[in-house]
Amino acid sequence: MIFRLIVASLLPTLILGVQVLTCPDHLPIHAPPIDLQIDGCDAQPCHINRGDSVSMQTRFRAAVYTDEMRLALNSTVFGVQRPVELPYEMQNACNVIDGNCPVNQGDILTLRATIPVETEVHGGVPVELKLYVSHAPGFYCTCVLVNVVIH
Ligand SMILES: *[C@@H]1O[C@H](CO)[C@@H](O)[C@H](O)[C@H]1NC(C)=O
Repeated sequence: MIFRLIVASLLPTLILGVQVLTCPDHLPIHAPPIDLQIDGCDAQPCHINRGDSVSMQTRFRAAVYTDEMRLALNSTVFGVQRPVELPYEMQNACNVIDGNCPVNQGDILTLRATIPVETEVHGGVPVELKLYVSHAPGFYCTCVLVNVVIH
C-alpha cells in the first residue's frame, strides 16, 4: 500500500514532457491538458522539417460523461489562423484516446496523435498548432497548444 503510494507520487516527475501551454483563446475550454509529451522534443518550440508529422501524447480530464468527442486542429502562421483538416479517423477523438468512449466526467484520458503538419512554409517559420477536443459543438474539453518551428 505504502509502496504503491510512493510509486504513484513519483510517477508524474518521471514522465518526461514539455511544458503545457494554455491556448490563447476565449472559448469555453474546460481545462488545459494535464501533461504533454512530443516525440523528439524536450522544450517548445519543437523544431521540425517541412512535411514532418508531430507525434504527441497528452493527458486531460473528461469534462462530462460523453460517448462522442471530436478532434480539430487550427494552425496559426504569420498571425493567420486557419483550420487544418485532420485525417478522417482522427476527427473522432474517441479513436485516439486510450480506452475509447464513452468517458465519464473526471476520467483522465490519454490521447495519442500524429499530426500531419502540411504547410508551404519552411526556413524557420514559427507555427502555432492548437488541437481542440470538443464534447459538443462549441464546447471544448481541452485544447493542446504546440509551438513548432518549421525548417
Ligand atoms: C479555427 O480557425 C478558424 C479560422 O480562423 C476560426 O473560424 C475558428 O474559430 C478556429 N477554431 C477554434 C476552435 O478556435
